[in-house]
Amino acid sequence: MSERASSRGEHSSERATSRGEHSTGPGTTPQQGHTAPALDLAALVADPDTRIVVCCGSGGVGKTTTSAALALAAAEAGRTVVVLTIDPARRLAQSLGLEELDNEPRQVEVPGASGRLDAMMLDMKRTFDDVVTAHSTPERAEQIMVNPFYQALSSSFAGTQEYMAMEKLGQLRASERWDLVIVDTPPSRSALDFLDAPNRMSRFLDGTMIRLLTAPARAGGRAGVRLVGAGFMIFSRIISKILGGQLLTDISAFVSALDTMFGGFRERATATYELLRQPGTSFVVVAAPEPDALREASYFVDRLSTEGMPLAGLVLNRTHPPATTQLSATRAEAAAEAVAEAGGKGAKLAAGALRVHAERMTLAIREQRLADRFTSAHPEVGIRTVPAAAGDVHDLDGLRTMAAALLGAEGDTPTGTPRSRVLPVRQPAS
Ligand SMILES: Nc1ncnc2c1ncn2[C@@H]1O[C@H](COP(=O)(O)OP(=O)(O)O)[C@@H](O)[C@H]1O
Ligand SMILES: [Mg+2]
Repeated sequence: MSERASSRGEHSSERATSRGEHSTGPGTTPQQGHTAPALDLAALVADPDTRIVVCCGSGGVGKTTTSAALALAAAEAGRTVVVLTIDPARRLAQSLGLEELDNEPRQVEVPGASGRLDAMMLDMKRTFDDVVTAHSTPERAEQIMVNPFYQALSSSFAGTQEYMAMEKLGQLRASERWDLVIVDTPPSRSALDFLDAPNRMSRFLDGTMIRLLTAPARAGGRAGVRLVGAGFMIFSRIISKILGGQLLTDISAFVSALDTMFGGFRERATATYELLRQPGTSFVVVAAPEPDALREASYFVDRLSTEGMPLAGLVLNRTHPPATTQLSATRAEAAAEAVAEAGGKGAKLAAGALRVHAERMTLAIREQRLADRFTSAHPEVGIRTVPAAAGDVHDLDGLRTMAAALLGAEGDTPTGTPRSRVLPVRQPAS
Protein backbone atom coordinates (compact mmCIF):
# COMPACT_ATOMS: atom_id res chain seq x y z
CA MET A 1 0.00 0.00 0.00
CA SER A 2 1.07 3.56 -0.56
CA GLU A 3 2.94 5.82 1.77
CA ARG A 4 -0.23 7.81 2.12
CA ALA A 5 -2.13 4.86 3.45
CA SER A 6 0.48 3.87 5.94
CA SER A 7 0.88 7.40 7.25
CA ARG A 8 -2.81 7.33 8.14
CA GLY A 9 -2.92 3.86 9.51
CA GLU A 10 -5.49 2.73 6.92
CA HIS A 11 -3.94 -0.69 6.72
CA SER A 12 -4.34 -1.05 10.42
CA SER A 13 -8.04 -1.48 10.74
CA GLU A 14 -7.97 -4.27 8.21
CA ARG A 15 -5.52 -6.17 10.28
CA ALA A 16 -7.48 -5.46 13.41
CA THR A 17 -10.49 -7.10 11.80
CA SER A 18 -8.70 -10.10 10.50
CA ARG A 19 -7.58 -10.82 14.01
CA GLY A 20 -11.21 -10.56 14.97
CA GLU A 21 -10.41 -8.22 17.81
CA HIS A 22 -13.15 -6.33 19.40
CA SER A 23 -13.81 -3.23 21.28
CA THR A 24 -12.52 -1.98 24.56
CA GLY A 25 -14.80 -3.49 27.11
CA PRO A 26 -14.61 -2.15 30.63
CA GLY A 27 -12.70 -5.23 31.73
CA THR A 28 -9.88 -4.75 29.24
CA THR A 29 -6.69 -3.72 30.91
CA PRO A 30 -4.46 -1.42 28.92
CA GLN A 31 -1.34 -3.23 27.89
CA GLN A 32 2.06 -1.82 28.53
CA GLY A 33 4.11 -0.70 25.61
CA HIS A 34 1.25 0.06 23.25
CA THR A 35 1.91 3.45 21.79
CA ALA A 36 -0.58 4.82 19.31
CA PRO A 37 0.84 5.89 15.97
CA ALA A 38 0.63 9.57 15.10
CA LEU A 39 -2.24 10.83 12.94
CA ASP A 40 -0.99 13.23 10.30
CA LEU A 41 -4.00 15.35 9.40
CA ALA A 42 -1.85 18.04 7.77
CA ALA A 43 -0.72 15.47 5.20
CA LEU A 44 -4.26 14.21 4.82
CA VAL A 45 -5.87 17.55 3.93
CA ALA A 46 -2.94 18.69 1.79
CA ASP A 47 -2.94 15.49 -0.26
CA PRO A 48 -4.69 16.18 -3.60
CA ASP A 49 -5.83 12.56 -3.64
CA THR A 50 -7.96 13.22 -0.57
CA ARG A 51 -11.36 14.20 -1.98
CA ILE A 52 -13.75 13.50 0.89
CA VAL A 53 -13.21 13.65 4.64
CA VAL A 54 -16.06 12.48 6.87
CA CYS A 55 -15.99 13.43 10.55
CA CYS A 56 -17.98 11.02 12.70
CA GLY A 57 -18.45 10.21 16.32
CA SER A 58 -21.18 10.18 18.96
CA GLY A 59 -23.09 13.34 19.87
CA GLY A 60 -21.38 16.41 21.28
CA VAL A 61 -17.77 15.28 20.88
CA GLY A 62 -16.74 18.03 18.46
CA LYS A 63 -17.56 16.69 14.98
CA THR A 64 -18.88 19.99 13.66
CA THR A 65 -16.00 21.99 15.11
CA THR A 66 -13.43 19.51 13.82
CA SER A 67 -14.99 19.57 10.33
CA ALA A 68 -14.92 23.35 10.21
CA ALA A 69 -11.35 23.55 11.54
CA LEU A 70 -10.09 20.98 9.04
CA ALA A 71 -11.86 22.81 6.20
CA LEU A 72 -10.32 26.12 7.24
CA ALA A 73 -6.87 24.54 7.39
CA ALA A 74 -7.36 22.93 3.97
CA ALA A 75 -8.34 26.28 2.43
CA GLU A 76 -5.30 27.86 4.02
CA ALA A 77 -3.20 25.08 2.53
CA GLY A 78 -4.47 26.08 -0.91
CA ARG A 79 -7.34 23.70 -1.50
CA THR A 80 -10.77 24.53 -2.84
CA VAL A 81 -12.87 23.09 -0.08
CA VAL A 82 -16.51 22.95 0.92
CA VAL A 83 -17.61 21.96 4.40
CA LEU A 84 -21.07 20.50 4.87
CA THR A 85 -22.13 21.17 8.43
CA ILE A 86 -25.21 19.55 9.89
CA ASP A 87 -26.07 21.29 13.11
CA PRO A 88 -23.52 24.02 13.75
CA ALA A 89 -23.83 25.86 17.05
CA ARG A 90 -25.39 29.23 16.35
CA ARG A 91 -22.33 31.36 16.96
CA LEU A 92 -20.14 29.13 14.85
CA ALA A 93 -22.69 29.27 12.03
CA GLN A 94 -22.73 33.05 12.27
CA SER A 95 -18.99 33.36 12.09
CA LEU A 96 -19.00 31.17 8.99
CA GLY A 97 -21.68 33.40 7.45
CA LEU A 98 -24.28 30.66 7.69
CA GLU A 99 -27.13 32.64 9.17
CA GLU A 100 -29.51 31.57 6.48
CA LEU A 101 -30.37 28.00 5.88
CA ASP A 102 -30.43 28.09 2.11
CA ASN A 103 -29.00 24.65 1.45
CA GLU A 104 -26.33 26.08 -0.86
CA PRO A 105 -22.62 26.54 -0.16
CA ARG A 106 -21.51 30.12 0.48
CA GLN A 107 -17.97 31.42 0.39
CA VAL A 108 -16.38 32.17 3.76
CA GLU A 109 -13.97 35.11 3.78
CA VAL A 110 -10.65 33.75 4.94
CA PRO A 111 -8.10 36.56 4.80
CA GLY A 112 -4.79 35.40 3.40
CA ALA A 113 -5.91 31.91 2.42
CA SER A 114 -4.39 30.66 -0.81
CA GLY A 115 -7.33 28.32 -1.37
CA ARG A 116 -11.03 28.84 -1.00
CA LEU A 117 -13.49 27.88 1.71
CA ASP A 118 -17.20 27.43 1.12
CA ALA A 119 -19.53 26.35 3.88
CA MET A 120 -23.09 25.20 4.05
CA MET A 121 -25.59 24.00 6.55
CA LEU A 122 -27.71 21.00 5.60
CA ASP A 123 -31.41 21.68 5.14
CA MET A 124 -32.79 18.20 5.36
CA LYS A 125 -36.26 18.94 4.02
CA ARG A 126 -35.00 21.01 1.10
CA THR A 127 -32.57 18.28 0.13
CA PHE A 128 -35.37 15.71 0.20
CA ASP A 129 -37.63 17.99 -1.86
CA ASP A 130 -34.86 18.45 -4.42
CA VAL A 131 -34.50 14.70 -4.79
CA VAL A 132 -38.24 14.35 -5.36
CA THR A 133 -38.26 17.19 -7.89
CA ALA A 134 -35.32 15.73 -9.75
CA HIS A 135 -36.99 12.35 -10.06
CA SER A 136 -40.55 13.08 -11.03
CA THR A 137 -42.76 15.25 -13.15
CA PRO A 138 -43.78 18.62 -11.64
CA GLU A 139 -47.35 17.42 -11.02
CA ARG A 140 -46.21 14.27 -9.34
CA ALA A 141 -43.65 16.12 -7.24
CA GLU A 142 -46.38 18.50 -6.09
CA GLN A 143 -48.59 15.53 -5.22
CA ILE A 144 -45.85 13.96 -3.13
CA MET A 145 -44.85 17.13 -1.35
CA VAL A 146 -48.29 18.07 -0.10
CA ASN A 147 -48.79 14.61 1.34
CA PRO A 148 -48.67 14.77 5.15
CA PHE A 149 -46.88 11.46 5.26
CA TYR A 150 -44.13 12.81 3.08
CA GLN A 151 -43.92 15.92 5.18
CA ALA A 152 -43.47 13.85 8.31
CA LEU A 153 -40.98 11.55 6.66
CA SER A 154 -38.89 14.33 5.18
CA SER A 155 -38.59 16.26 8.39
CA SER A 156 -38.67 13.80 11.23
CA PHE A 157 -38.19 10.18 10.27
CA ALA A 158 -35.29 8.70 12.22
CA GLY A 159 -32.44 8.44 9.78
CA THR A 160 -33.67 11.03 7.30
CA GLN A 161 -30.99 13.46 8.35
CA GLU A 162 -28.25 10.86 7.94
CA TYR A 163 -29.64 9.83 4.58
CA MET A 164 -29.90 13.42 3.37
CA ALA A 165 -26.38 14.20 4.55
CA MET A 166 -25.19 11.39 2.27
CA GLU A 167 -27.40 12.63 -0.54
CA LYS A 168 -25.95 16.12 -0.25
CA LEU A 169 -22.44 14.75 -0.04
CA GLY A 170 -23.05 12.91 -3.30
CA GLN A 171 -24.26 16.12 -4.94
CA LEU A 172 -21.33 18.21 -3.71
CA ARG A 173 -18.83 15.62 -4.81
CA ALA A 174 -20.44 15.20 -8.22
CA SER A 175 -20.46 18.92 -8.96
CA GLU A 176 -16.64 18.99 -9.24
CA ARG A 177 -16.63 22.57 -8.00
CA TRP A 178 -14.46 21.61 -5.06
CA ASP A 179 -11.42 19.42 -4.84
CA LEU A 180 -12.16 18.55 -1.23
CA VAL A 181 -15.50 17.97 0.49
CA ILE A 182 -15.48 17.81 4.29
CA VAL A 183 -18.62 16.38 5.84
CA ASP A 184 -19.86 16.73 9.34
CA THR A 185 -22.33 14.05 10.47
CA PRO A 186 -25.68 14.34 12.28
CA PRO A 187 -25.86 14.55 16.06
CA SER A 188 -26.99 10.95 16.43
CA ARG A 189 -26.61 9.14 19.68
CA SER A 190 -24.52 6.53 17.95
CA ALA A 191 -21.90 7.11 15.28
CA LEU A 192 -23.10 3.94 13.61
CA ASP A 193 -26.42 5.58 12.74
CA PHE A 194 -24.64 7.43 9.99
CA LEU A 195 -23.67 4.21 8.25
CA ASP A 196 -26.93 2.41 9.00
CA ALA A 197 -29.38 5.11 8.00
CA PRO A 198 -29.09 4.95 4.20
CA ASN A 199 -29.80 1.25 4.27
CA ARG A 200 -32.65 1.60 6.68
CA MET A 201 -34.02 4.46 4.66
CA SER A 202 -33.74 2.74 1.31
CA ARG A 203 -35.26 -0.42 2.71
CA PHE A 204 -38.10 1.69 3.96
CA LEU A 205 -38.60 3.52 0.72
CA ASP A 206 -38.06 0.32 -1.13
CA GLY A 207 -41.55 -0.50 -0.12
CA THR A 208 -41.33 -3.53 2.12
CA MET A 209 -42.43 -1.52 5.07
CA ILE A 210 -44.69 0.75 3.10
CA ARG A 211 -46.35 -2.19 1.41
CA LEU A 212 -46.93 -3.68 4.80
CA LEU A 213 -48.42 -0.43 5.99
CA THR A 214 -50.73 -0.04 3.05
CA ALA A 215 -51.73 -3.69 2.86
CA PRO A 216 -55.08 -3.16 4.58
CA ALA A 217 -56.01 -0.37 2.25
CA ARG A 218 -55.09 -2.46 -0.74
CA ALA A 219 -56.68 -5.67 0.45
CA GLY A 220 -59.78 -3.78 1.43
CA GLY A 221 -59.77 -3.08 5.10
CA ARG A 222 -60.27 -5.72 7.77
CA ALA A 223 -59.34 -8.73 5.72
CA GLY A 224 -55.97 -7.15 5.04
CA VAL A 225 -55.42 -6.44 8.67
CA ARG A 226 -56.07 -10.06 9.52
CA LEU A 227 -53.69 -11.06 6.79
CA VAL A 228 -50.72 -9.09 8.05
CA GLY A 229 -51.39 -9.94 11.64
CA ALA A 230 -51.01 -8.44 15.04
CA GLY A 231 -47.50 -7.17 14.50
CA PHE A 232 -48.77 -4.84 11.88
CA MET A 233 -51.64 -3.70 14.08
CA ILE A 234 -49.27 -2.57 16.78
CA PHE A 235 -46.95 -0.99 14.30
CA SER A 236 -49.75 0.79 12.51
CA ARG A 237 -51.18 2.05 15.77
CA ILE A 238 -47.85 3.49 16.81
CA ILE A 239 -47.31 5.15 13.47
CA SER A 240 -50.86 6.50 13.48
CA LYS A 241 -50.23 7.98 16.89
CA ILE A 242 -47.12 9.67 15.65
CA LEU A 243 -48.42 10.87 12.36
CA GLY A 244 -52.13 11.30 13.01
CA GLY A 245 -55.40 9.91 11.68
CA GLN A 246 -55.60 10.15 7.92
CA LEU A 247 -52.48 8.05 7.79
CA LEU A 248 -53.32 5.05 5.70
CA THR A 249 -55.02 7.03 2.95
CA ASP A 250 -52.10 9.42 2.88
CA ILE A 251 -49.63 6.60 2.68
CA SER A 252 -51.49 4.96 -0.17
CA ALA A 253 -51.38 8.15 -2.18
CA PHE A 254 -47.78 8.63 -1.21
CA VAL A 255 -46.83 5.15 -2.26
CA SER A 256 -48.43 5.33 -5.66
CA ALA A 257 -46.72 8.66 -6.26
CA LEU A 258 -43.38 7.37 -5.03
CA ASP A 259 -43.63 4.02 -6.76
CA THR A 260 -41.56 5.14 -9.72
CA MET A 261 -38.91 6.57 -7.43
CA PHE A 262 -38.09 3.54 -5.30
CA GLY A 263 -35.39 2.34 -7.61
CA GLY A 264 -33.92 5.81 -7.73
CA PHE A 265 -33.62 6.07 -3.99
CA ARG A 266 -32.03 2.71 -3.63
CA GLU A 267 -29.58 3.37 -6.39
CA ARG A 268 -28.59 6.69 -4.91
CA ALA A 269 -28.06 5.26 -1.47
CA THR A 270 -25.90 2.55 -2.96
CA ALA A 271 -23.92 5.01 -5.08
CA THR A 272 -23.15 7.26 -2.12
CA TYR A 273 -22.22 4.27 -0.03
CA GLU A 274 -19.76 3.28 -2.74
CA LEU A 275 -18.40 6.82 -2.74
CA LEU A 276 -17.52 6.36 0.91
CA ARG A 277 -15.46 3.30 0.07
CA GLN A 278 -13.36 4.95 -2.57
CA PRO A 279 -9.68 5.52 -1.88
CA GLY A 280 -10.14 9.32 -1.98
CA THR A 281 -12.40 9.15 1.07
CA SER A 282 -11.13 9.22 4.64
CA PHE A 283 -13.02 8.93 7.88
CA VAL A 284 -11.90 10.87 10.90
CA VAL A 285 -13.44 9.48 14.05
CA VAL A 286 -13.88 12.07 16.78
CA ALA A 287 -14.25 11.11 20.43
CA ALA A 288 -14.08 12.76 23.82
CA PRO A 289 -11.67 11.19 26.33
CA GLU A 290 -14.58 9.50 28.08
CA PRO A 291 -15.48 5.82 28.29
CA ASP A 292 -18.79 6.04 26.37
CA ALA A 293 -17.46 8.14 23.52
CA LEU A 294 -14.41 5.92 23.15
CA ARG A 295 -16.48 2.76 23.21
CA GLU A 296 -18.61 4.22 20.41
CA ALA A 297 -15.47 5.18 18.53
CA SER A 298 -14.20 1.66 18.93
CA TYR A 299 -17.39 0.13 17.48
CA PHE A 300 -17.27 2.61 14.65
CA VAL A 301 -13.65 1.79 13.80
CA ASP A 302 -14.55 -1.91 13.68
CA ARG A 303 -17.51 -1.18 11.49
CA LEU A 304 -15.52 0.93 9.05
CA SER A 305 -13.04 -1.85 8.57
CA THR A 306 -15.83 -4.38 8.07
CA GLU A 307 -17.33 -2.13 5.41
CA GLY A 308 -13.95 -1.58 3.78
CA MET A 309 -14.12 2.15 4.41
CA PRO A 310 -10.83 3.99 4.84
CA LEU A 311 -10.10 5.28 8.31
CA ALA A 312 -7.66 8.16 8.77
CA GLY A 313 -7.56 7.90 12.54
CA LEU A 314 -8.96 9.08 15.84
CA VAL A 315 -9.20 12.66 17.07
CA LEU A 316 -9.36 12.68 20.84
CA ASN A 317 -10.94 16.05 21.44
CA ARG A 318 -11.00 18.17 24.60
CA THR A 319 -8.17 16.54 26.46
CA HIS A 320 -6.56 18.10 29.54
CA PRO A 321 -2.79 17.89 29.31
CA PRO A 322 -1.06 19.38 32.37
CA ALA A 323 1.13 22.49 32.13
CA THR A 324 4.11 20.41 33.18
CA THR A 325 4.62 16.69 33.31
CA GLN A 326 7.63 16.89 35.60
CA LEU A 327 5.65 16.74 38.82
CA SER A 328 3.42 13.77 39.64
CA ALA A 329 -0.01 14.13 41.28
CA THR A 330 1.15 12.45 44.47
CA ARG A 331 4.21 14.66 44.82
CA ALA A 332 2.18 17.77 44.04
CA GLU A 333 -0.35 16.80 46.75
CA ALA A 334 2.44 16.19 49.28
CA ALA A 335 4.11 19.46 48.36
CA ALA A 336 0.81 21.32 48.71
CA GLU A 337 0.41 19.96 52.23
CA ALA A 338 3.96 20.79 53.19
CA VAL A 339 3.67 24.33 51.85
CA ALA A 340 0.35 24.89 53.61
CA GLU A 341 1.75 23.60 56.90
CA ALA A 342 4.84 25.77 56.67
CA GLY A 343 2.57 28.78 56.19
CA GLY A 344 3.90 32.23 55.43
CA LYS A 345 3.41 34.67 52.63
CA GLY A 346 1.97 33.17 49.45
CA ALA A 347 1.66 29.69 50.96
CA LYS A 348 -2.07 29.49 50.36
CA LEU A 349 -1.69 30.44 46.73
CA ALA A 350 1.18 28.05 46.14
CA ALA A 351 -0.64 25.18 47.85
CA GLY A 352 -3.70 25.94 45.70
CA ALA A 353 -1.66 25.90 42.51
CA LEU A 354 -0.07 22.59 43.49
CA ARG A 355 -3.48 21.07 44.20
CA VAL A 356 -4.81 22.25 40.84
CA HIS A 357 -1.82 20.61 39.21
CA ALA A 358 -2.44 17.38 41.14
CA GLU A 359 -6.04 17.31 39.93
CA ARG A 360 -5.05 18.07 36.39
CA MET A 361 -2.43 15.35 36.48
CA THR A 362 -4.96 12.83 37.78
CA LEU A 363 -7.38 13.78 35.01
CA ALA A 364 -4.67 13.50 32.37
CA ILE A 365 -3.67 10.06 33.65
CA ARG A 366 -7.28 8.96 33.39
CA GLU A 367 -7.55 10.32 29.84
CA GLN A 368 -4.29 8.68 28.79
CA ARG A 369 -5.44 5.40 30.28
CA LEU A 370 -8.65 5.55 28.22
CA ALA A 371 -6.62 6.31 25.11
CA ASP A 372 -4.30 3.38 25.90
CA ARG A 373 -7.27 1.09 26.24
CA PHE A 374 -8.47 2.16 22.81
CA THR A 375 -5.00 1.60 21.41
CA SER A 376 -4.73 -1.88 22.87
CA ALA A 377 -7.88 -2.81 20.93
CA HIS A 378 -6.81 -0.91 17.78
CA PRO A 379 -3.01 -0.74 17.90
CA GLU A 380 -2.66 0.62 14.37
CA VAL A 381 -5.14 3.46 14.55
CA GLY A 382 -3.40 6.84 14.58
CA ILE A 383 -4.41 9.29 17.29
CA ARG A 384 -4.29 13.07 17.52
CA THR A 385 -5.23 14.68 20.84
CA VAL A 386 -6.74 18.16 20.87
CA PRO A 387 -6.63 20.01 24.20
CA ALA A 388 -9.83 21.63 25.46
CA ALA A 389 -9.86 25.33 24.67
CA ALA A 390 -10.70 27.73 27.49
CA GLY A 391 -14.08 28.56 25.98
CA ASP A 392 -16.28 27.41 23.11
CA VAL A 393 -14.90 27.41 19.60
CA HIS A 394 -17.17 29.84 17.78
CA ASP A 395 -15.14 32.03 15.42
CA LEU A 396 -12.37 31.86 12.84
CA ASP A 397 -9.70 32.51 15.46
CA GLY A 398 -11.02 29.68 17.60
CA LEU A 399 -11.09 27.42 14.55
CA ARG A 400 -7.51 28.40 13.71
CA THR A 401 -6.36 27.45 17.20
CA MET A 402 -8.17 24.16 16.86
CA ALA A 403 -6.68 23.62 13.38
CA ALA A 404 -3.19 24.22 14.80
CA ALA A 405 -3.81 21.51 17.38
CA LEU A 406 -5.24 19.17 14.74
CA LEU A 407 -2.49 19.72 12.17
CA GLY A 408 0.55 20.78 14.21
CA ALA A 409 3.74 18.73 14.12
CA GLU A 410 3.59 15.66 16.35
CA GLY A 411 6.32 16.75 18.78
CA ASP A 412 5.63 20.45 18.75
CA THR A 413 4.04 21.07 22.17
CA PRO A 414 5.10 23.24 25.13
CA THR A 415 5.76 20.20 27.33
CA GLY A 416 7.25 18.10 24.55
CA THR A 417 4.50 15.48 24.95
CA PRO A 418 3.76 14.10 21.47
CA ARG A 419 0.40 15.20 20.10
CA SER A 420 -0.74 11.60 19.87
CA ARG A 421 -0.79 11.50 23.66
CA VAL A 422 -2.12 13.32 26.70
CA LEU A 423 0.96 12.44 28.75
CA PRO A 424 4.44 11.30 27.74
CA VAL A 425 5.11 7.56 27.70
CA ARG A 426 7.14 7.77 30.87
CA GLN A 427 5.51 9.75 33.64
CA PRO A 428 7.41 10.85 36.72
CA ALA A 429 7.37 8.31 39.52
CA SER A 430 5.02 9.14 42.35
N1 LIG B 1 -11.30 21.47 21.65
C1 LIG B 1 -12.35 22.16 22.12
N2 LIG B 1 -12.21 23.05 23.12
C2 LIG B 1 -13.26 23.74 23.62
N3 LIG B 1 -14.52 23.61 23.17
C3 LIG B 1 -14.74 22.74 22.17
C4 LIG B 1 -13.68 21.98 21.59
N4 LIG B 1 -14.22 21.22 20.60
C5 LIG B 1 -15.54 21.48 20.59
N5 LIG B 1 -15.86 22.40 21.52
C6 LIG B 1 -17.21 22.94 21.84
O1 LIG B 1 -18.04 21.84 22.19
C7 LIG B 1 -19.35 22.04 21.72
C8 LIG B 1 -19.76 20.85 20.88
O2 LIG B 1 -18.97 20.79 19.73
P1 LIG B 1 -19.57 20.36 18.32
O3 LIG B 1 -18.48 20.46 17.33
O4 LIG B 1 -20.82 21.12 18.03
O5 LIG B 1 -19.91 18.83 18.63
P2 LIG B 1 -20.71 17.80 17.74
O6 LIG B 1 -20.81 18.34 16.36
O7 LIG B 1 -19.93 16.52 17.81
O8 LIG B 1 -22.05 17.66 18.39
C9 LIG B 1 -19.35 23.35 20.94
O9 LIG B 1 -19.84 24.35 21.77
C10 LIG B 1 -17.87 23.58 20.64
O10 LIG B 1 -17.56 24.97 20.58
MG1 LIG C 1 -22.54 18.75 15.31
